[in-house]
Amino acid sequence: MPTTGIFFNVNGKDVKEENVDPELTLAYYLRNKLGLRGTKLGCEEGVCGSCTVVIGTWDEDQNKAVYRAVNACLVPLFHVHRTFVITVEGVGSRDKIHPIQDRMARGHALQCGFCSPGFVMSAYALLRNHPNPSIKQINAAIRSNLCRCTGYRPILEALYSFSSESGGCCGGKKNGGGCCKDKNSSDEDEGFDEKLLNFGDFPKYDSTQEIIFPPSLRTFVDTEKQLILSGSRIELTLPKTLEQFKLERNDRNVISSGLITRFVTSRNPKEFSQKWISTKYVKEFNEVKVESDTITIGSAVTIQKLSETLSASLQENIASEIGRFIQKFSSQQVANFATWTGAIVSAAKSSVSVSDLLLLLNVLDAKLTLLTENGDLVQTEIGRFVEEKQFENTVVNAVFSRNDNRRLFCLKLGETSEQDSTNFNFGALIGNKSNRIFVGLGGQPKRLNGLESYINSGKSMDLEELYKESQVEKNYNFTIALTRFIEFLNHKEHGKSSEAVNYIQYFKPTHNESVGRPIANYFNERAITGEALYVNDIQTHNAVHLGFVLSTVPHAEIINVDPSEALKLKGVCGYFGVTDIPGNNVPGLQLANMNFPDNTTIFADKKVESVGQVIGVIAANDVVLARRAARLVKIDYKGLKSLVDFKEAREAESLLGDVKNYGKDEKIMNECLEKSSKVLEGEVEIGGQEHYYLETQSSLVIPGEGDELVVHCATQGTSFTQLMVAEAMKIPAHKVIVKTKRLGGGFGGKVNNASWIACMCAVVARKLNRPAYGFLSRADDLAITGKRHGVYAKYRVGIDSEGKIEGIYYKAWLNGGWSKDHTEGVTMVMGVLVDEVYNMGTVRFEGYPVKTNSNSNTALRGYGNPQSKLLNEGVMRRIAREVKKDVEEVKKLNFSFEGHHRFLGTKIHNDSLGECWECCTNWSEFEKRKRKIEEFNRNSKTVKRGIAMSSVRFGLPHAGPSGHGIASILINLDGSIQLSIGGTEMGQGLNQKMLQVCSEALKRPIDTITIVDTSTDKITNAPETGGSQNADTNGLAVLACCNRIMSKLQPILNKNEGEWEKSIREAYAAYIPLQCTEYGTVKREEFGVGEMESPYNTTGACAVEIEIDILSGYNHVIRVDMVMDVGESLNPAIDIGQIEGAFMQGYGLVTCEKITFNRETGYLDQNSAGKYKIPKASDVPKDFRVKLLGINKANGAQVYSSKGIGEPPLMMSCGAVHSAIMYCIDVWRKENGIEEFVDTISPLSAERIQKLCSK
Ligand SMILES: Cc1cc2nc3c(=O)[nH]c(=O)nc-3n(C[C@H](O)[C@H](O)[C@H](O)COP(=O)(O)OP(=O)(O)OC[C@H]3O[C@@H](n4cnc5c(N)ncnc54)[C@H](O)[C@@H]3O)c2cc1C
Ligand code: FES
Ligand code: FES
Repeated sequence: MPTTGIFFNVNGKDVKEENVDPELTLAYYLRNKLGLRGTKLGCEEGVCGSCTVVIGTWDEDQNKAVYRAVNACLVPLFHVHRTFVITVEGVGSRDKIHPIQDRMARGHALQCGFCSPGFVMSAYALLRNHPNPSIKQINAAIRSNLCRCTGYRPILEALYSFSSESGGCCGGKKNGGGCCKDKNSSDEDEGFDEKLLNFGDFPKYDSTQEIIFPPSLRTFVDTEKQLILSGSRIELTLPKTLEQFKLERNDRNVISSGLITRFVTSRNPKEFSQKWISTKYVKEFNEVKVESDTITIGSAVTIQKLSETLSASLQENIASEIGRFIQKFSSQQVANFATWTGAIVSAAKSSVSVSDLLLLLNVLDAKLTLLTENGDLVQTEIGRFVEEKQFENTVVNAVFSRNDNRRLFCLKLGETSEQDSTNFNFGALIGNKSNRIFVGLGGQPKRLNGLESYINSGKSMDLEELYKESQVEKNYNFTIALTRFIEFLNHKEHGKSSEAVNYIQYFKPTHNESVGRPIANYFNERAITGEALYVNDIQTHNAVHLGFVLSTVPHAEIINVDPSEALKLKGVCGYFGVTDIPGNNVPGLQLANMNFPDNTTIFADKKVESVGQVIGVIAANDVVLARRAARLVKIDYKGLKSLVDFKEAREAESLLGDVKNYGKDEKIMNECLEKSSKVLEGEVEIGGQEHYYLETQSSLVIPGEGDELVVHCATQGTSFTQLMVAEAMKIPAHKVIVKTKRLGGGFGGKVNNASWIACMCAVVARKLNRPAYGFLSRADDLAITGKRHGVYAKYRVGIDSEGKIEGIYYKAWLNGGWSKDHTEGVTMVMGVLVDEVYNMGTVRFEGYPVKTNSNSNTALRGYGNPQSKLLNEGVMRRIAREVKKDVEEVKKLNFSFEGHHRFLGTKIHNDSLGECWECCTNWSEFEKRKRKIEEFNRNSKTVKRGIAMSSVRFGLPHAGPSGHGIASILINLDGSIQLSIGGTEMGQGLNQKMLQVCSEALKRPIDTITIVDTSTDKITNAPETGGSQNADTNGLAVLACCNRIMSKLQPILNKNEGEWEKSIREAYAAYIPLQCTEYGTVKREEFGVGEMESPYNTTGACAVEIEIDILSGYNHVIRVDMVMDVGESLNPAIDIGQIEGAFMQGYGLVTCEKITFNRETGYLDQNSAGKYKIPKASDVPKDFRVKLLGINKANGAQVYSSKGIGEPPLMMSCGAVHSAIMYCIDVWRKENGIEEFVDTISPLSAERIQKLCSK
């Protein structure tokens, strides 16, 4: 009789499970069965690393435990049999915090915190195996963990502190980790602190304190019987011996780790029945034998172990290159778990995937041992195995020769850097007159026999000749490969990049008790230990989960919706669509925002206008089931003509609303340009951007008595969501309570989108009278939600002979997608602020909100301002080219300053643009470095460097209805204080700042104050959180509350010599109110600011130095200097975090982040986590300097003389990065005789750079 149980240990507790479904993932089990919600789900595709956990196994050969970080979202649960699973909860808790968690929490290494447990776990696996890791090992360990908020610098710095190569004060010795003494100390730096904190003061890491490998697992004696697990669709046999395997093999599908097989199977929604057999527990499949002549590696061995074994046992010429090559495998967690056999067989079967393992094994001429269907063992060459499609055989092992002393060369190219998924690879083993050269083009790599013989002939290494002999059609990737290969043949080592970093954070220290101090966010410890709850972590009883039925066509009438197949599945509770909405299916923005009414539907009504539009939802007892069932709902469409392509839509004059005109009328504008001595024209193309908050959209609606609904929603606007849900449900708003504890990132994308998901949950919750969760998978989030608006613009600019702008006429088309959403608002903001930091004389802006059949675009950090910035960067470069000046000189010539008026007449108040620009120019040694770069470029043909400065002006707080905040304070009789505000916490540190403001104003220690959920039963009609003004507006409200309370309490406190608790009791006895709610409003008239004017401006300047490899188009930021005036910062750690995070988001916007659609099918090309590329930790500049100027020009709009942050740094970062890359491109083009000017085109992806730098 086979067994059906598995045994493992989670965080020190033994667990036995019977008959687990082979389709179940470890993440699902940990979160839903064990309630370990610290394992987060950010993509469920193995890309983001949020779900990272550690698996420990006992290595008998080494007689010690080995720990590996893996993606719990991909690991099948059955696979943890006999292993030690460690989750973030097992690493440490707030009571016993682990040094990794401590350093990250106190080191400000998190903002929204959603990614943080994943980083902890990746670092934890590393420390368990290497208690004193090198910087290189740390970089490798976290290379596949994504963070959208922090910009990675503080994460890296916290983790580098574990390496003796870095961390703490090195006393000027650098130790490979950079040194604070490297800073450009000057008189200007007097009075600044240089670092937010010093890790030298932290407790040392002591590996003996770690949780030990469970003895129960070491003493566990597994039965010889095979294990059989039966799920609803899969029956899995796990034999323990080769004999059992042979007996059971038959027609079963062989799996090794089963990671990719389970993942692919889970995508199939249909009912089917499959039988799998695993090699996992059979000794012969797991053997690793290193003998004098050969190395044998079993087929169930992981990619990482194969790489380590080969690297340790082959000749140096080959070994080091294997290590380097596998280091570029896109996911460390996948390499730690998936098998080399799975990699080669799945790639060979697919014929399109390009596999690094298949290439490597071909180049190394690995011999495979196969178990035939007859039970015989035979050996074959890997090439034959693939070419003859011998897939009915089971791979037992691969045998490699140890005596090969040829030289190995491998190259992998992805869309971004080489740690991306592979698009192309190339490998060569050279020497002894016998070469092996392969190129990976999908499926079996192609052997280049012609090239092999040519190399042997010793003839010239000319690129053209090599191309000819290869017989490969010309393409960029192959050109790169051959060029690098020639360098390799000529023994030209590519310069190894240094691991040294120089991270500097300058700020002015304060003597205040609370405000102004870089206090770690109170929430950091909760998030880093996995204790913090996001909406999808809240546990309820008897809930249903939504699966989203999405349009698969860009424009069509809906003829019929047939959910019958879905409803047949056990556990499915119903299908809900437009007819189930009791109220308004188009609740829009109109209730909260009178200016720009929206026409987005909750559920599509009779027609769809975009792929990804939600048609309906399936409710089921389980989220996996709900998603599966949703894909079984059949929709009949009658296709309508679609306009997916932005250009075609523009040409067809397809608009979402009126054209928005700002500035002078056309006649005056044209007259102005006619009078100008020179008029330049240009066209600009700026791509969109995905928010990529790590927590996808999530809501939970719990039905209450009567019509009441409690809505837990990751929304940036609780009141807004409340109104939307009430409108959709046809109930008054007082029946709906919306609560938001925190968001795992928002960036503008969780206002409208969050509310529609909440509405859908409300419909289901009410209909079924059960709590309803709506948690989007990453793929659904990408498909459904809107993004940053792509823009196409034209300009005509009139200048004088010096390059001073006399007038500019802009026409801009914004890609709004299928419905209005925020498009008119973004068009307006782009228009009214288009002059940003410049005085442009006569200005006219025409904004066209274009309708396309694609995602309905929405707010994203910057809200129209980044587009203006990029547009003007092109204008400035164009002028500079014309008047033959440096771009920075032209920018400076055109700056507007405090006291000037902007083009719509508003006066510039309280502004430090000039100071920031000057400080940044000096601090970054801009001119000196520029000369050095010119020198570098003269001597370097294929690698070019560029440097550029950009700046930002961001007026705050905003005029109009959103420019106020609301706060409420309750003081309990024990003296403790409860604070609530209308703004929501989404990683921007708002709650922490408000705690500091409250603490300072009441003169109470921060730990006596709790900031509670933002909730509409405490604060109503709160404006949405966004626009960088929330510390101002909410802070003013907090101050107003504190002042009101203190006005009555202070006399009692004075009498009691400040004794707080006693005074509170006395105040209570004297009927003095101990709670209040106040509005924070900006009284512009009191300090001479016009009604529509900004009381102050947050300003900044930054300098970026970048290097591009012309051949591959890859870029690499060398150094960044960012100087910002945020007044007297409320919390420098938070503000610096916002600046660094914005830098990386802006960097992504103009480099790797692409939004494109298939114009025929309407599908987003980047429709999965793996296809949309956000910056990674390896993209962080190694020299990253931030300085907060700390200027105090305070007026009454500011809270403790601080200024708002959040969006502003993104504008200058995207501007400077783009211009620095364009600098490189312009230099290359000029050198190569190409005169044609390249206007702003963004993003400057590797592919685009290659194109711009080719003749
Ligand atoms: C997030 C992510 C990132 C990735 N990045 C890269 C990358 O950078 N470079 C790269 O090259 N690849 C990459 N891959 C692909 C990855 O290498 C493979 O998906 C993985 O190795 C498959 O192994 P597995 O153990 O999951 O296979 P399994 O699911 O066990 O099997 C996969 C296939 O192999 C067959 N098979 C398994 N074992 C045997 C056997 N013993 N005999 C015969 N057939 C067998 C199965 O029948 C099945 O068809 C990535 C994958 C993911 C998910
Ligand atoms: S990698 Fe598992 S959730 Fe993203
Ligand atoms: S803190 Fe990393 S994603 Fe928010």
